[in-house]
Amino acid sequence: MEIDFSKASFKDFENVSGMDAWKRADLFKDYLDYLNNKGYLNYRLVSTTGCGPEMEIITDKNEKPKSLVSFVSNDYLGFTQHPKIKEAVIEGIRQYGTGAGASPAFGGQFSYHEQLENKIASFFNRDSAIIYTTGYTANSATLMSLLQKEDIAIVDMPVHARVYEGCQSTNLKVFLHNRLDILEKVLKESQSKYRTKMVIVDGVYSQDGDMAPLDKILELCRHYGAYLCVDDAHGVGVIGETGRGAMEKYGVTNEVDIITGTFSKTFANVGGYVIADPNLISFLKYQSRQHLFSATSTPAAAGILKGIDLLDEEPQWKDKLWDNINYFKSGLTELGMDIGNTESAIIPVKIGDAATTGEAGRLLLKAGVYCNPIIYPAVSKKNARIRMSVMATHTKEQLDKALNAFEYADQKLHISKSLSNL
Ligand SMILES: Cc1ncc(COP(=O)(O)O)c(C=O)c1O
Repeated sequence: MEIDFSKASFKDFENVSGMDAWKRADLFKDYLDYLNNKGYLNYRLVSTTGCGPEMEIITDKNEKPKSLVSFVSNDYLGFTQHPKIKEAVIEGIRQYGTGAGASPAFGGQFSYHEQLENKIASFFNRDSAIIYTTGYTANSATLMSLLQKEDIAIVDMPVHARVYEGCQSTNLKVFLHNRLDILEKVLKESQSKYRTKMVIVDGVYSQDGDMAPLDKILELCRHYGAYLCVDDAHGVGVIGETGRGAMEKYGVTNEVDIITGTFSKTFANVGGYVIADPNLISFLKYQSRQHLFSATSTPAAAGILKGIDLLDEEPQWKDKLWDNINYFKSGLTELGMDIGNTESAIIPVKIGDAATTGEAGRLLLKAGVYCNPIIYPAVSKKNARIRMSVMATHTKEQLDKALNAFEYADQKLHISKSLSNL
């Protein structure tokens, strides 16, 4: 089967008709080489330094790593490099060693896991939490064990991939992004047809950086007898008076039925959590296969305990982050870039077609700025963009360097929109 590489996306190689897995891998390798030769394959670039606003990156295997201003880390508050968190991680390893050795049910549950479950629950002023090895599985495994074929998941279209994976054995209805009129119609139709009706949304959406109107969504859920599950992976630490995220902003933290999230972004580690009422959490501890049969976090998770404290003890990081977000957003808007409706630290520069976005990524890299081109299937086909995560630790000089790089890319590619169209 012929695939036109100039129009292809990763999705076209998932299941090529008539090709066995190894032949498909060969064809995919040719596609990767094609992208690489054009300079568009800036995924999986290796960094020789840690996460941060400036990273040493190997852009060419024959050359020395380059120092680039970076917007690829969702380490919004810069906590991966915070000395107190590093110290807590080292102390955790000193006390417990380097691994958990087993899954939680079979001997791998240590006091730091229990502390973490209690601490993340009380961070949201709730009673019970369960932790998973990643934020992805926290979501997918929870949905998998709660929703069966007599139930329904009602999902805002651009939710993160982990939701779709979790909904494979249940009924699924997808509504257009933030279209509450459509959500209401689906809720009305589902009211008496299914046992569990669960509306699943993100607090902050991972590609556009915009938010779900959680107060209105909760009201609809209550009216039609549905549960509400919110993943706020990108909102915690960034949004809300005290950084409790989108639920704090909308005043619904105590009422959301299931809160899910990650320790891999603001909390500068790895792992995920689910917060709900105690019986539901206890059900998941014994029924959720990915929790039961997979080793949980390593003692480096002690750093997360410190990170949760620091959110309250050092609010200056969130303030600094918002200074940077506002500065960067107004710089990009002045350049005529279309940054959509972002309300968070995720800043997209919307370009449209995949080839121009790939070329923009290449030019930005050439100008010393590392960010991710996002194309189909991560976003719809005409919605390709450069996606950036702003950090509290970016300096104004680094942000200016990125703004200059966008100006340079715009001169070559005309990616800015006429201001009257914005
Ligand atoms: C909204 C959302 N939820 C969950 C995840 C996955 O989290 P983790 O990296 O902990 O698996 C992501 C990852 O980017 C995300 O954007």
